[in-house]
Amino acid sequence: MNYSNAKLRKPIDRVELKKRVGLVSGTSLIVGTMIGSGIFISPKGLTEGSGSVGLSLVNWLLCGGISLLGALTYAELGTLITESGGEWAYLKEAFGHIPSYLYAWMSILLLRPASAAIIALTCAEYVMVPLFDDGCVFLTAVNVYSVKAATNIQVIFTGAKLLAMAIIIIGGIVKMIQGHTDILATGFDGTESSPGKIAIGLYNGMWAYDGWNNLNFVTEEIINPSVNLPRAIIIGLPLVTVLYLLVNISYFTVLSVPQLLASPAVAVTWGEKVIPDVAWIIPVFVALSTFGAANGSMFSAGRLTFVAAREGHLMELLSMVHVKKYTPLPSLIFSAVLSVLYILPGDIGSLIDFFNFAIWMFYGATAASCIVLRFSPVYKNVERPYKVPLIVPFVVLVASIFLVVAPIIDDPRMEFLYVTLFIFGGLIFYVPFVHYKWYPKCIDHVTIFFQLLFNSSSPKSEPN
Ligand code: ARG
Repeated sequence: MNYSNAKLRKPIDRVELKKRVGLVSGTSLIVGTMIGSGIFISPKGLTEGSGSVGLSLVNWLLCGGISLLGALTYAELGTLITESGGEWAYLKEAFGHIPSYLYAWMSILLLRPASAAIIALTCAEYVMVPLFDDGCVFLTAVNVYSVKAATNIQVIFTGAKLLAMAIIIIGGIVKMIQGHTDILATGFDGTESSPGKIAIGLYNGMWAYDGWNNLNFVTEEIINPSVNLPRAIIIGLPLVTVLYLLVNISYFTVLSVPQLLASPAVAVTWGEKVIPDVAWIIPVFVALSTFGAANGSMFSAGRLTFVAAREGHLMELLSMVHVKKYTPLPSLIFSAVLSVLYILPGDIGSLIDFFNFAIWMFYGATAASCIVLRFSPVYKNVERPYKVPLIVPFVVLVASIFLVVAPIIDDPRMEFLYVTLFIFGGLIFYVPFVHYKWYPKCIDHVTIFFQLLFNSSSPKSEPN
């Protein structure tokens, strides 16, 4: 954890990131991260918060819309500030080190392991065997073993989830042609009116769309980012929104609101009704899709640990790579251990609520940084290759305030307070270790112990 060296390493590390993400791979990075567990697990929570078929579909569209506006805001930020690391880099430029450090802290201790836990639990709901622990360990092993294996797995699993969605969409179209439109025709009957319940419902939808910011984590690797980043967003987001809407319409051709709420695994129930002879393929595809999502999360999150440690915001150990495989072994192991801890209570709904509550605080802050940078003395005259209308980040900011505040007002659970305390608790470490660069000798011993155990080293000391 040598913070004082962190700055010196910067130029050397920069050279190592190769530009290899084009429009197609960039779009699939977005689409592939977004589609994962959510489309199979979120319809329940979102419909619960909506109360009716009509509002549920409107909310799916709304979540897609908010995500699109969020992603467009990020397109401006990503083309203005080309450092990798997403929110972390933008918060640092707009508001300084403390918010960006807190983002990295929360992301590594809470968001990444919690999202792996949600995805693993979804897989477990569908496959109904306690395969998920092995699954997490298996994916960690793949990501540790090779970068190439991790990216190949991603391609296969992205194919699997698109196929699963195609089956559900086509099945729905067939059902509609056969005249099964009575449930859809119930429209807005039973619509929920409490804003807090609707917000919790939206959380579930936002979970399904989360990942829209994923390309911003690797901006340093995008070919011609000022063109390809906004384009990948403009293609990817509407594509996912349309797919999600069609899948949900298909669910509603055979499942009423109470039936959907009663089903622990909506796509399986759908399969039993529409394709009874081959219903078993649904859990298989869902397992593949969730595996792919977990794999993608693990793969891209490595970039954040890397840039944050480079800046001295994190222990150097977490940014180290295996000396032969070049994979971020220490941080992967760390994250896998935390994910298993989050899996233990086993409640997907609460995990989704806390994930969104925490992440939307930072999405809101990032939208605010887009606004602040427009007026900042350093950035206001910098040419923006892609510029969103100022109203867009404002809408995202307002949406984020609603998403964070409404659930607390509706149901002031202590857990929201704990999450908030946990986020700001990061400051306890910030002051001595990051601000004052305090460096007790024992940290060296710990670092060296794990370095030897994991056979890892800082990227800069690798022979090429
Ligand atoms: N939308 C994804 C899903 O439905 C979850 C994305 C989690 N976020 C992330 N940055 N990996 O499973």
